[in-house]
Amino acid sequence: MLFATSLGNYIKSTVGRLLRLHKPHQYNHICSMYPRAVFMEVTNYCNLNCVMCTFHSKESPFRGNGRFSRSKGFMSESLAYKIIDELGSSDVPIWLAMHGAGEPLLHPKIEMFIRRASKYDNLNVGFLTNGMLLTDEKIKALLDSGIKWLSVSIDGLRADLMEKYRKGASFSKIHSNTMHLIQAVTSREEKPFLHVNMTVQKEMEADVDQFVDYWLQYVDQVSVSPCRPIGSRKSPLLPEGVRREPCYMLFETMVIFWDGSVGLCCEDWFNWGQMGSVELNSLYEVWHGKKFSKVRELHLKGKYSKLMLCKECDIWFNKTPKVYFDTNRNCEVVVNAWQTIYRKVNKAKSETIRLADAL
Ligand SMILES: C[S@@+](CC[C@H](N)C(=O)[O-])C[C@H]1O[C@@H](n2cnc3c(N)ncnc32)[C@H](O)[C@@H]1O
Ligand code: SF4
Repeated sequence: MLFATSLGNYIKSTVGRLLRLHKPHQYNHICSMYPRAVFMEVTNYCNLNCVMCTFHSKESPFRGNGRFSRSKGFMSESLAYKIIDELGSSDVPIWLAMHGAGEPLLHPKIEMFIRRASKYDNLNVGFLTNGMLLTDEKIKALLDSGIKWLSVSIDGLRADLMEKYRKGASFSKIHSNTMHLIQAVTSREEKPFLHVNMTVQKEMEADVDQFVDYWLQYVDQVSVSPCRPIGSRKSPLLPEGVRREPCYMLFETMVIFWDGSVGLCCEDWFNWGQMGSVELNSLYEVWHGKKFSKVRELHLKGKYSKLMLCKECDIWFNKTPKVYFDTNRNCEVVVNAWQTIYRKVNKAKSETIRLADAL
């Protein structure tokens, strides 16, 4: 009897396993062939220690014995080219951001990576930078490499406040580097899309309007992002009573860390998601693999709280931002859960720029 029961269980589990093998990743068919936005973290080292930065702040509660759970490093050339070439050969329009939890300009090969990516028409490549290392030589090298967009983080108009929060930064250096970038772009035929982002601390709130007006004179887009408490994925900007939806991140975005490991989403700073490795597998395999299928299934079934990171996260709301036209500034305004974006009208139509609105 005991034997019969175990044999029965054995048959049941084997048949079950075989059936699962035949329809293993059923929740992947509704996502695109490749992610539409990819974050390729070239390094998670940084030259600053911003007070609000989850990864680099000396005050981050995520440090254990003064260290983080994710090691620091630089992406190897071979891995970077593997990623770029696979995405570039896909023919899918992809917004490719070469930043993560660090400062991309610290990577000695960043221009080479940009050069390789800009050879592919489907890749809209660029990155966010704190601007400290944006020397004239770097600017020239980046423009020569065919970079498509660049965003500089400048927190407000006051040196004392910015330097209080961006530990190690020099306001005047970042301001002057950004002005040199703007001048250099003016003389180029191919002009990358330029963007300035302000992370707003309480003491800076009164300066926001002036900041937007000032930088809109010079760049294509200005955004202002209220500073979130370290590690927080909640937004104070979410309208009351709004119904949660499956998160577009899991269907559209891939986050690759410097060592090739793939996180759950942009909010997965320490790779808690562990979705796979593009060092060991192709991007396609990871994107259509079992792990992504599982998290997509949980979201489609509304079981958000089953995933530690998703339980308390509002980023899903960024997919349906409020959009209106600001007649005074003559620009389009996009308001999502994380930030308000002011974009010059002649730049508003590009599909890949819009993709980034939700990120
Ligand atoms: C993590 S940084 C990486 C790129 C680069 N090192 C930089 O500072 O631009 C990306 C952006 O996140 C912003 N940021 C950092 N901590 C934040 C927080 N707690 N709330 C909102 N934005 C934050 C930074 O100001 C920066 O604009
Ligand atoms: S410059 Fe960017 S990555 Fe570096 S500490 Fe500041 S916010 Fe973090």
